[in-house]
Amino acid sequence: MKIYHFRTLNPEAKAIVLPILQTENLSEDLRQIAEKYEINFAFLQQDFKADPKEVQTFYTSKNQKIILLGFGKKPDSSEVIRIFRTLIHQYQTKLPNELSIDLTQLPESWIEWASNGCLLGTYNIKLYKTETKAKAPLLSEEGVLNIISDSDSIEKLLEKGKATAETQMQIFDLMNAPANKKSPLTLVKWALASGEKYKYSVNVLEKQQLKSQKLEALLAVGQGSEHAPMLIVMEYRSPQATKTIGLVGKGVTFDTGGISIKSSSNMHLMKSDMGGAAAVFGAIELAAKLELPVHLVGIVPACENSVDGKSFKPSDVIGSYSGKTIEVIDTDAEGRLILADGLSYLVKNFKVDAIVDLATLTGSCISTLGYHAAGLFSNNDTLAQVLSEVADQTGERLWRLPLWDVYKEDLSSDIADVRNYSGKPMAGAITAAKFLEVFIENHPQWAHLDIAGTAFGDAEFAPQRAGTAFGIRLLVEFFGKYH
Ligand code: BES
Ligand code: MN
Ligand code: ZN
Repeated sequence: MKIYHFRTLNPEAKAIVLPILQTENLSEDLRQIAEKYEINFAFLQQDFKADPKEVQTFYTSKNQKIILLGFGKKPDSSEVIRIFRTLIHQYQTKLPNELSIDLTQLPESWIEWASNGCLLGTYNIKLYKTETKAKAPLLSEEGVLNIISDSDSIEKLLEKGKATAETQMQIFDLMNAPANKKSPLTLVKWALASGEKYKYSVNVLEKQQLKSQKLEALLAVGQGSEHAPMLIVMEYRSPQATKTIGLVGKGVTFDTGGISIKSSSNMHLMKSDMGGAAAVFGAIELAAKLELPVHLVGIVPACENSVDGKSFKPSDVIGSYSGKTIEVIDTDAEGRLILADGLSYLVKNFKVDAIVDLATLTGSCISTLGYHAAGLFSNNDTLAQVLSEVADQTGERLWRLPLWDVYKEDLSSDIADVRNYSGKPMAGAITAAKFLEVFIENHPQWAHLDIAGTAFGDAEFAPQRAGTAFGIRLLVEFFGKYH
């Protein structure tokens, strides 16, 4: 699908999408549409209420297909994107090869959202189906999407929506890849290829280097897998950068729970346990692609948490890059172990103004916030506020939870510096965050995002759940707001 832009709508356009908001003017808007296309206003008003995702199609006397698309009252950007995505995804076979979207009545930011959503609507999750269906005309090479707006920034906004969608779809593939097609090396290769393409540096610490540099927590988690653990270090620096932001993403390519094995019912979903890594990859790639004025350091500890005779065990006391010792109570609390090494590697080797880590870290966060928001933890109110504001804008919701020191008492170990699990089935997302805090070396600006509930979701695009690329838009907007 190619995307073009025009300042005015071609009166001959074959198919036209008219996005409609449920405002007080709805009736008047519909009256004008009815008049322009010579259809019955009363019927139109009866049939179309502009509810979110509502679609009303009619044909004009010139055989033009007009599609009214409802957006509800006050959609945030995520909802706008989602509605365009759903339209393309669900109606692809019913649409001609050329579609025009009239955004002349809407704020210019809709240009980015419409192009992003429409492109995401072309995503095909059927990675491993043997029967390949022909693409719908609109989604094929000949497919054309025309965005109509008289904004002077149209080109830039369109490009941003498109660049974002392209990266997000790469990330979908990475998230949706099953355990037997994904290992730490797969993540390494992804980062190397992306760094090569968009000109940012990627360094990899392989097992020998992890040993010599004592990333012992990462090594411990990965020791039961046939795939060696790796640490991926990425750096993108714009000459205009004034701030350095460190990003750390959990890259567990499959989480069986290890010896503290998970129950089988939903274990297959644990192929998505590299959602934090995916967000970091996507955000760095997009920042480099859009040449954003920022300096980023991205760290991804990558490993597989497997069950094996060589696996680490509950009761093990392991070392860590920070030098602190950790008593392993539960091998399923592996994310915090590899993040501990990722975080201390970041603060010991780079001078960063702020740290944001992202991880599919706890089931507890899902119990707390469900699938609609990620947990936000921060030792810095300003940083937390900037992130919250950006989250409200992008619709990638964050909700702040506390980091009070009383919660840390549950992590004290009799024989080591700290233990990885309280042993109590309560406040799990908070104690996990308290554990991470031990490894940031008192850095004054740190935020942890628990994306367990938001990284892998269900939707009309994939009822059995699929990668959402959660965090990429959030981080990219954050880079612009954090000064
Ligand atoms: N990867 C899981 C968390 C998770 C659960 C992500 C469900 C997405 C969906 C994490 O490694 C984990 O197993 N956490 C445990 C920690 C517990 C053993 C302290 C959990 O949340 O149950
Ligand atoms: Mn786990
Ligand atoms: Zn995990």
